[in-house]
Amino acid sequence: MHVSLRQLRVFEAVARHLSYTRAAEELHLSQPAVSMQVRQLEDDVGLPLFERLGKRILLTEAGREIHHYSRAIDRSLQEMEEVIESLKGVSRGRLRIAVASTVNYFAPRLMAVFQGRYPGIGLRLDVTNRETLVQMLDSNSVDLVLMGVPPKDIEVESEAFMDNPLVVIAPPEHPLAQARSIPIERLAEEVFVMREEGSGTRQAMERFFAERGQTIRHGMQMTRNEAVKQAVRSGLGLGVVSLHTIELELETRRLVTLDAQGFPDRRQWYLVYRRGKRLSPAASAFRDFVLSEAARIAVLPPLNPAPI
Ligand code: PGA
Repeated sequence: MHVSLRQLRVFEAVARHLSYTRAAEELHLSQPAVSMQVRQLEDDVGLPLFERLGKRILLTEAGREIHHYSRAIDRSLQEMEEVIESLKGVSRGRLRIAVASTVNYFAPRLMAVFQGRYPGIGLRLDVTNRETLVQMLDSNSVDLVLMGVPPKDIEVESEAFMDNPLVVIAPPEHPLAQARSIPIERLAEEVFVMREEGSGTRQAMERFFAERGQTIRHGMQMTRNEAVKQAVRSGLGLGVVSLHTIELELETRRLVTLDAQGFPDRRQWYLVYRRGKRLSPAASAFRDFVLSEAARIAVLPPLNPAPI
């Protein structure tokens, strides 16, 4: 057998996603290039590794065996890279951080301060949804993740580092804007602009209403906090967002937060990494930095600031 690392890496991505298209996207390759690598591997191995079932593909028994070994090889390579990085010390090395879309409102500020202290460290930031963050943790393709709710189905270490209050937002001219202590039943009469399935904010919002025996009247659905804010501003409904996302809108009074019972819904941001992962000196330095300083650097705006 003349199996190459490249073939195994491509195969591993196809086997994980059970999709040539998604593997091609992840690896930034064309789909024919991915199919070719898998075909070459099948030729080398001398057995088919996938079988087709209608539109789906499944691993054959040989495929499952190769997947087991390819994951182990991948993990060893990652570990090798991490050990080499740690030999370079904290002042050098690379650090790959992935964050939930809402974290994007303060992550660059944190990275700027950290980079000022450690100019030799190469930082990379991925901003993505919760589902992809969980996949990244699972495949060990990221050093540290900043997210709302740590995953329960994979083994991770998680440490809370800052408050993440969720607030109800409305345009300033909304009839409830001046109301005090709005009961949840009254809130449930309103239509809400929703984030996409898989958003941590959305999960928390659904839990908040469900725990109080209420259902949310869903309005339009949007995949970005920015879109939710614009939709609320345009009168398409109320919204629930993290206070971190509306600093500018509160300052310029384009949006207000409602005084609703149970809000702000107090949540936390977590720093998460795979259990047992050997953190490089650069990753450890970033972890210590986030845990001890993030709350001071990413200051939360006051709720509905006093008139200017
Ligand atoms: P998100 O935020 O809604 O952008 O996914 C993460 C979270 O609050 O859990």
